[in-house]
Amino acid sequence: MSKGKILIVDDSESNAAVMAMHAEAEWDNPIVTASNAQDAISILTQHKDIVTVISDFNMEGGTGGDLYAYVKKERPTVAFILIAGDDIDTYKSKPEFSDLFKENPPAFISKPFEKEDFLVPVRKYGGPQLVHAESQYKKIAIERFLMFNEVLVGAYIKLSQTKFVKILRGDDKFPEETVRKYIKKGVKHLFIETSEYQKFLKAASKKILGKLSNKKVGIKEKLEFQVHSVDSIHRGLRDLGMSEIAVTLADKSMDTTMNSLKKNKSISGLISKLLLKKNYIYQLSMLTNYLSVAIAEKTDYGSPSSYKKLTMCALLQDLSLEDENLAKIVNLHGEPFEKLKPDHKKLVENHPHKTVEMLEKVDDFAADSKTIIMEHHERPSGKGFPRGINHLKIAPLSCVFIIAHQFAHRLLTEPLTSETFQSINIELKENYGKGNFRKAYQGFVKAFKGEKK
Ligand SMILES: [Fe+2]
Repeated sequence: MSKGKILIVDDSESNAAVMAMHAEAEWDNPIVTASNAQDAISILTQHKDIVTVISDFNMEGGTGGDLYAYVKKERPTVAFILIAGDDIDTYKSKPEFSDLFKENPPAFISKPFEKEDFLVPVRKYGGPQLVHAESQYKKIAIERFLMFNEVLVGAYIKLSQTKFVKILRGDDKFPEETVRKYIKKGVKHLFIETSEYQKFLKAASKKILGKLSNKKVGIKEKLEFQVHSVDSIHRGLRDLGMSEIAVTLADKSMDTTMNSLKKNKSISGLISKLLLKKNYIYQLSMLTNYLSVAIAEKTDYGSPSSYKKLTMCALLQDLSLEDENLAKIVNLHGEPFEKLKPDHKKLVENHPHKTVEMLEKVDDFAADSKTIIMEHHERPSGKGFPRGINHLKIAPLSCVFIIAHQFAHRLLTEPLTSETFQSINIELKENYGKGNFRKAYQGFVKAFKGEKK
């Protein structure tokens, strides 16, 4: 079946082109453009397969309001998004449209906008018939590919934006030295055809589950597989909506965490095993996982259900951020944040919210786990984000998580010296011992001293 069309209406040719470009990169639906409401209406009468209209308001020859009135009446199933320079209330108060806007306001994008300001509302309100543009290949870190070499899929390397060369046929186990040869040449990623990606991910998840369940596998290797499980959980949820596999992997990972904590008397020893200096997001996830559970164990909040919540949140906290450099930004006041492009700033600022939104489809995700994710960048001083709440408002279990997160973040981004450890301890002591953080901080001190609660 052919895909329904998106109609973009703007009297500025360049604005229409920018919107069309954003939409083209995101969706497979064909795009048509018009320069005013009259043109748009005549296109709508000729093309019965238009599924979404995105229209500017102020245009000569019929406004976006006229067009909205037409669509509501004649084509009510078509999704409609209105773009305008003012607030929607301004339009609601226009006498000719007040009834229409009051009863049934359209989705709304304010101008000027960056790419994500445009895409986010269209993703949400653009209707169910928008089809995501499938890239033909999915990227896999070459090291990860090596770990799962019994998964029989073909693999490509990328020569240019459009050119890919097949290096592994996928009909037999590949010779490891072939892949090593490419690693030596500096190749960091292999590409798998999208159609085979699910097969790869399922098989990889199965292997991880096997390793995590196997009593003979040593702690070091288990930790390594746990880090990979974070990657599989993120990819499974983000790319394929495979929430079942994600939940099973997270459960298994939690068992491993609990067992490792039981077996290793010293949390510092475990941390050193976790510092593999690979991808920041996965490392941060695992470290926050271990630390938050170790801290919770030494407080009144220690219970299997809170360990599970902390583990899930640790593994999923940055699900909506694919770029580890963006995940490394933990405050909105410093230079690293200021230097970002506006759309990247938005991604960082909104990632707690966006992650919670993505987790709506995971059944096991409890309401207070959403609170932890929403608050994972809040700080006792009130200088965190997104809400800037302080030590009196942040939920107690979030406080445990935040201490673990701050500790993990600094360990991963600063030189591993005794000065760093000292400075982290001083920071926590001075700033994290008050309000709802008090008990969590005491738990942290006990966890490191190896004391009972
Ligand atoms: Fe985060």
